[in-house]
Amino acid sequence: MNGQLTFTMIKPSAFEAGYTGSILSMIEKAGFRIKSLKKVKLTTSQAGDFYEMHRGKPFYEGLVGFMSSGPIVAAVLEKENAVEDFRLLIGATDPANAEPGTIRKLYGKNMGENAVHGSDSDESASREAAFFFSSLELS
Ligand code: RTP
Ligand code: MG
Repeated sequence: MNGQLTFTMIKPSAFEAGYTGSILSMIEKAGFRIKSLKKVKLTTSQAGDFYEMHRGKPFYEGLVGFMSSGPIVAAVLEKENAVEDFRLLIGATDPANAEPGTIRKLYGKNMGENAVHGSDSDESASREAAFFFSSLELS
């Protein structure tokens, strides 16, 4: 399955704003198949562990606070070249720099409230999928 899976979250601000359906629709229309899906509210400790690789960076505390501030929707997505194609679909981290038509350009507000997460490598996708979903939920 290497290269065919990625992991995403619809972040709290986008969920709260009611963009979940529109974002999932864009994802499916772009050719991704939803393999696993759930809504969950992270504790600060869980959000901190998920973003472990950013611990110590200036934006870490804000990121963890934001990601635990309300429910998120987590999903594993399947497609050829999933990680790279999904990063193209979501656009740059800062919505102001994202290409027109990308999810972050359409639904993101700023660098922090940028609507969605997307895995940055196959290794991250595997780790992040296993963080949220049991093996039964991933099958
Ligand atoms: P994500 O992990 O959420 O998909 O975003 P990303 O790969 O595009 O960006 P990453 O470098 O992994 O950063 C994770 C999240 O932290 C916030 N951030 N703020 N103020 C800053 O300089 C800064 N840098 C990153 C963003 O909300 C980003 O999505
Ligand atoms: Mg990242």
